[in-house]
Amino acid sequence: MLCLWGLSIPVVLAENPTITEVQREFFETKIRPVLADQCLECHNSIDKKKGGLALDWSQPSRQGGDSGKVIIPGDPDNSLLIQSIRHQAGVESMPDKSPKLVDSVIADFTKWVRMGAPDPRHTQPTASEKSRSQLGRMCGTSVKNGGPSKR
Ligand code: HEC
Repeated sequence: MLCLWGLSIPVVLAENPTITEVQREFFETKIRPVLADQCLECHNSIDKKKGGLALDWSQPSRQGGDSGKVIIPGDPDNSLLIQSIRHQAGVESMPDKSPKLVDSVIADFTKWVRMGAPDPRHTQPTASEKSRSQLGRMCGTSVKNGGPSKR
């Protein structure tokens, strides 16, 4: 564990020198849950990467998809990701096959990109982390056979 710390801190700093506690909190409460619930099913680095885009950790999110970068830090209006959730003309509307996100959530994403899209997810999630991140969604609907129970 100590070794890991020693290795990971410089990487974190180099990748994202400006992430503050406030930004981390904003990401964790406003952005991460929406990505997990609305996007990762089709955009993850493990088993499905529609449009060449994985949004499950910072590196591929920054890298973008088939169209190139989808997040331009500081410039939401020119970020394909924001254009897609705004259902802007001429771009694919996201989330695909689901209703448009509510305005307050779109506003949160816009604010996040404007502040530089600080993203504390510096490592690729494992397959089990991926399914755990989608558990909230599944519990809400139907986890029947052998699923976790709250007894
Ligand atoms: C049901 C599957 C599905 C879901 C859910 C989904 N997407 Fe997509 N997404 C796609 C598909 C399919 C494409 C490719 C569209 C095309 O190029 O024809 C795509 C493409 C994109 C692109 C363009 C990538 C590129 O480089 O061209 C962005 C940005 C995007 N999605 C963002 C999102 C966001 C943000 C969410 C969650 C709010 C989301 N998507 C949810 C299926 C999905």
